[in-house]
Amino acid sequence: MSQVATDASSFDFAPLLAAGLPAPAPRWNGFPKYNFIGGHNDADQVPVDELIAAATAVLRRKGKTLATYGLDSGPLGYRALREFLAGKLKRDAGISCTADEILLTSGSLQGIELVNGILLNRGDTVLVEEVTYFGTLNRLARLGVNAVGIPLDNDGLRMDALATILADLKARGIRPKYLYTIPTVQNPTGSIMPLARRLELLRLAEAYDVPVFEDDCYADLIWDGQRPPAIYALAKHRNVIHIGSFSKSIAPALRVGFVVADWSVLARMLPLKTDAGSGALEQMVLAEYCVPHFAGHLPELTRALRAKLETLMEALAEQFGTAAEFDAPKGGIFLWVKLPDAVDTQKLAQAALKSGVAINPGFEWAPDKAYGRPRLRLCFGNPSHDEIRQGVAMLAEVCHREFGVPSRIANVAAAGR
Ligand SMILES: Cc1ncc(COP(=O)(O)O)c(C=O)c1O
Repeated sequence: MSQVATDASSFDFAPLLAAGLPAPAPRWNGFPKYNFIGGHNDADQVPVDELIAAATAVLRRKGKTLATYGLDSGPLGYRALREFLAGKLKRDAGISCTADEILLTSGSLQGIELVNGILLNRGDTVLVEEVTYFGTLNRLARLGVNAVGIPLDNDGLRMDALATILADLKARGIRPKYLYTIPTVQNPTGSIMPLARRLELLRLAEAYDVPVFEDDCYADLIWDGQRPPAIYALAKHRNVIHIGSFSKSIAPALRVGFVVADWSVLARMLPLKTDAGSGALEQMVLAEYCVPHFAGHLPELTRALRAKLETLMEALAEQFGTAAEFDAPKGGIFLWVKLPDAVDTQKLAQAALKSGVAINPGFEWAPDKAYGRPRLRLCFGNPSHDEIRQGVAMLAEVCHREFGVPSRIANVAAAGR
């Protein structure tokens, strides 16, 4: 039972709470010293000066339009930002869409909520990658939707497994409501699905009449800048909904994401968007900033993130040796790590937090909890290089203390330390 009342004299909301609420949120006590969780970005890469200049310029020019809901752009969001996105998506991802096929949202999380809102009922089935974004999985669980995990390899979703599962579900009379995929820098594995596989995925999706829900929120953060065409761009039958975000390329606290879909789909989403429009100031500042600066900002950001990834992989190799297995991601801000089977990363996460190290245990990312148990996700976006080194050393200490793994730390027999 959740405890809302804090003392005897305060009103007790607990008996009045709606049924089926998620567990109460813990109070925030500041960030841990070594913060490897969530999707935070590199503070030094936020283009503060340019954002200040953009805010000043756009407020001078367009500030009075804040007087009306939706500015002078209507419910889809600030038109100049949608126009920037239409051009960027064409250049970077091969997507041909107009500004009227883009809905600006409060982060891409709201995009996920809107897709779920128009498509899902309790008891439905959806297909997801065998490890995937926690924010998607927990929303599906809350909605009472059955998430079926499809195995992955280094190129993302395995098409043989997808074909088998689609055929099996069809034989049982089940038509999944959608196939959710993060094809471009998968969260948490960091893989990029090659073009041929995207085409095969579409062939299967069409054969089984299952729409594709493409989450491309990390697609700007690719080390070699080689972004394949979006699945949305390759689809011939408008059976794909695409979402993206400025959280990973500029700043997550701005809360600006977007949905790209046919107007017939957006028209069903708008009535569910209960905030009467996402924060307009952020959209205005982003549009003003992005037109001249976005393309130049990305290489600097990815260079900084990649350097942090190198530091993290070196620190893990030094502290854990062969006990930590991982494939280098092709971009993004996460490293997905497998520890020996004896390690339960949920317990490790709790013990590590007491020593100031926050990690995401793998079970949060895997519909198959046993698969996630020895795995963990480390976000390298926010900690400094020194914090990465110190945090990984601390994690190795805690892991050795709790599980006897790794047996040698920094190539020194751990028992003798
Ligand atoms: C795959 C994926 N989709 C969506 C989101 C939501 O991001 P935002 O709402 O900040 O755009 C995240 C955040 O980490 C994510 O990893």
